Amino acid sequence: MRRILIATSNPGKLRDFAGAALRHGVEIAGIPEFSSLPTVIEDGLTFEANARKKAEAYSSYVPGEIVVADDSGLEIDALNGAPGVHSARYAAPDLLYKEPHEADANTDDDANNARVLHELKDIPSAQRTGRFVCVLAVARDGKTLATFRGTAEGIILDALRGTNGFGYDPLFYFPEIKKTFAELTAEEKSKYSHRGAAFRQFLNWSDAI
Ligand code: IMP
Repeated sequence: MRRILIATSNPGKLRDFAGAALRHGVEIAGIPEFSSLPTVIEDGLTFEANARKKAEAYSSYVPGEIVVADDSGLEIDALNGAPGVHSARYAAPDLLYKEPHEADANTDDDANNARVLHELKDIPSAQRTGRFVCVLAVARDGKTLATFRGTAEGIILDALRGTNGFGYDPLFYFPEIKKTFAELTAEEKSKYSHRGAAFRQFLNWSDAI
């Protein structure tokens, strides 16, 4: 079975990758001693810039290994694409997440969801469209080999629904299956999610090299 190293300490992302890996017969593993490695500051302006930065930095600690890093977030149309690359710290005061040196001060999922609900309080359901975006960067020995982008289109609800998943999953309603992402098992989420879509592209690419 193929083994892929994932550069993340986010248990929600790991659960998603494990769900996707199960469906495709690959084994995923974290980078050894990941939590003791220096944190990569996510100050890029795009998902791709941050994903590349993480993959390049973390792959330099595991010579010769293929490392996959994910940068992802929620883009809400009525908020001009916010929270976007700031999704992990949307509840922080604006100045905090705009300062590059503070860019990794993530905020709590509940607080981030509360801010989304607040920002959308006057927006009717038909205009509450948005998407999850995931960019995966694959690197070896400090160099990016490829990037893959997956998206999932949905509606942002006006109350939380479901207890699985992480982040904005309980607010993200996926019309195709009439459920929020927080109402899915990890395996189901990998079928419909932005992360699952990007991961499948990565697997096709890695089969071909
Ligand atoms: P980052 O990629 O580490 O910068 O963090 C991405 C942030 O976007 C997470 O902390 C979540 O708030 C949000 N996010 C990304 N993917 C998902 C998902 O699949 N479900 C819910 N929230 C997500």
